[in-house]
Amino acid sequence: MNNGPIGIFDSGMGGLSVWRVLYRTLGDESLVYLGDGKNCPYGDRAAEEVRRFSLDAVERLVGCGCKLIVVACNTATAMAIKMLRSRYPQIPFVGLEPAVKPAAESTRTGVIGVLATSRSFDGELYRATSARYADRVKILEAVGEGFVEIVENSLEHTPEAKAAVRRVVRPMAEQGADRIVLGCTHYPFLRDAIAEAVVGFDVEIVDSSEAIERRVEHLLDEMGLRAECGHRPQYDFLSFADAGYVERLREKAFE
Ligand code: DGL
Repeated sequence: MNNGPIGIFDSGMGGLSVWRVLYRTLGDESLVYLGDGKNCPYGDRAAEEVRRFSLDAVERLVGCGCKLIVVACNTATAMAIKMLRSRYPQIPFVGLEPAVKPAAESTRTGVIGVLATSRSFDGELYRATSARYADRVKILEAVGEGFVEIVENSLEHTPEAKAAVRRVVRPMAEQGADRIVLGCTHYPFLRDAIAEAVVGFDVEIVDSSEAIERRVEHLLDEMGLRAECGHRPQYDFLSFADAGYVERLREKAFE
């Protein structure tokens, strides 16, 4: 048993898409969410910078006594998780990778679309996984240009957001993709706009949040880290940006 919190971090608000699933399913667990905010977006930054920001975030979460850390950012996972694991061998880390495997194994058309940031597409594991399916499945990759900024500014339901999403997503469906992988934790906030962009096509949107939740539960059990039954959980929000940003994180989490 361990009543310490689970730490979750992202470049900004995107990781709240993972936070929400953990909040809903892990009723007894305290959660500390760190959304950098100051250095967001990470998606086009140099790998070295992403590693530095990720280390700062993890140091802060470790300082809060986190028993397990979810790197709720595909970009930070791709660039930094190896380094984080070697720096903190005592902490179990759960990372996010674009869910190519379930999409590639379930596609009926043999075409899948993957939406992610540039740095996530450079990730070793992503490259290895997509190469494994390359002879059977056509993978259409696209960066969600402007998507992160839309979510950070809570503009998901504006006509501009819908147009930006449609521009990137619809061509995937037009080229035969029947699975669209959300390879960035900001993108689930645009799920409605994505679904609207592919109306008329038989497309399934693939999100990793639930698989991550299962992985967290598995590790909590395996390592004996669950909070006591009936433990009163606490939900904290941190950022490298200002207090106003922290308030917006909290609002978005519970919206
Ligand atoms: N939410 C992040 C991800 O999953 C990062 C987006 C960004 O900061 O560019 O990749």
